[in-house]
Amino acid sequence: DETAVSIIQDNGTKPPKILANIVSSQEEVHKKFGGVVPELAARSHLEKIEIITKKALIKSKVKLEDVDAISATAGPGLIVCLSVGFNFAKSLSLTLKKPLIAVNHLEGHALSPMFQNHIKYPYLLLLISGGHSQYLIVNGLGKYKRIGTTIDDALGEAFDKTAKMLGLPYPGGPHVAKLAEQGDPARFDFPRPMVKQGGLDFSFSGLKTHTLTTVRACEAGGMLSDTDKADIARAFETAVVDTLVIKCRRALKQENLRRLVMAGGVSANVRLRAALETKLGKEGAQVFYPAPKLCTDNGAMIAYAGALRLAAGEADGSDAEVRPRWSMTELRAPKAK
Ligand code: KG4
Ligand code: ZN
Repeated sequence: DETAVSIIQDNGTKPPKILANIVSSQEEVHKKFGGVVPELAARSHLEKIEIITKKALIKSKVKLEDVDAISATAGPGLIVCLSVGFNFAKSLSLTLKKPLIAVNHLEGHALSPMFQNHIKYPYLLLLISGGHSQYLIVNGLGKYKRIGTTIDDALGEAFDKTAKMLGLPYPGGPHVAKLAEQGDPARFDFPRPMVKQGGLDFSFSGLKTHTLTTVRACEAGGMLSDTDKADIARAFETAVVDTLVIKCRRALKQENLRRLVMAGGVSANVRLRAALETKLGKEGAQVFYPAPKLCTDNGAMIAYAGALRLAAGEADGSDAEVRPRWSMTELRAPKAK
C-alpha cells in the first residue's frame, strides 16, 4: 500500500547512497476500510507511479537515460498492485534498453539496514512486517535459511488489529506505539505467547484474543476511556517486546550468532529497538536496524537488492513476471561469474 520510487548510487563502496527516496502512502485511501482494498490500491498505484518517478528524478538530479538499471518488486504481494509497478519498470527497461531486475520484496527488507552499516554475514534476521514475521539466517545475498515463523498472524497485522480494537486508524502500529507511551505499565499483564515452549515460532492470535477480552472487560464498565486505551496499548506492546527479546536471545544462542538485524515495518518500533539493543547488547550481541524511513516499505531497499544482484551478473528478461507468492527461502545466491 505504498507507491515508491528511489534512485540510489552504489559503486560497491558501502553503504550505498540514496539520491532520492519518494514514498507515497495510501493511508488516506484505505483508512476508512481499516485495511487495504486491492482494487483501490491498484488504481492509486497507477495514478501515482509516473508522477513519483518524475519527482525522484528531479530530487536526485539524475536524467532517466543515465540510470544504469531498473529494479522493481516482483513479489510477494497482491497481483494487481505488483503488476502496476513491475510493468511500469519493464516498459522503462525496454524503452531505455537498460537491465531489469525482478526483486523479492522481503530480500529488500533483509538488506535495508545496509544503508546505515555494512553488516558482515552471517547474521540473524528478524523480519517483522505487516505480512511476515520470521527468523532467518542470512549467509549472503540469496542465502537465506528460515528458522522460525508465525503460525498465525504477522506481527504488524497484530499491531494493526489491536489498533482497530482501540479505535485507532490503519496502519495501526505507529498509533499503538504512540499511545503506549502514556500507558500505565503496571495495570495489565498480557501473556507472552509461545515463550514457554521451545523453538522459534511465533503466534500472535492468543495475544490478540487477550487484548479483545481486556477491551470488552473495560467496556463493561462504560465507554473505553483514553486511559484504558493507553494502558491496553502499553500492555500489548510490552508483551510483544518481551517475547521478541526472549526469542531473539534464544535464536542467537541456538545458531551461535552475534549479529542481529531487524527489518520490516515493525522494526520502526522504538521500544522494541531499545529493548533488543540494551538487553542483547549487554550479552555481547550487536543489534542493527534500518533508519526509520527505511523500516517501512520504500523503493531504496528494492533498488539496492537489485543493484547487488546486477553487480553479481544477474538480470531478468522481458518475459519476467510478477510472483504473488514468493518466499525468501526460494531465492538463490547469484551464480558465480
Ligand atoms: O514493511 P511494511 O511497511 O509493509 C509490509 O511489507 O507489510 O510493514 C507495515 C507494518 C504495519 O503493520 C504497521 O502497523 C507496522 O508495520 N508498523 C509498526 C510501526 N511502524 C509500522 N508497528 C509497530 N510499531 C511501529 N512504530
Ligand atoms: Zn514490506
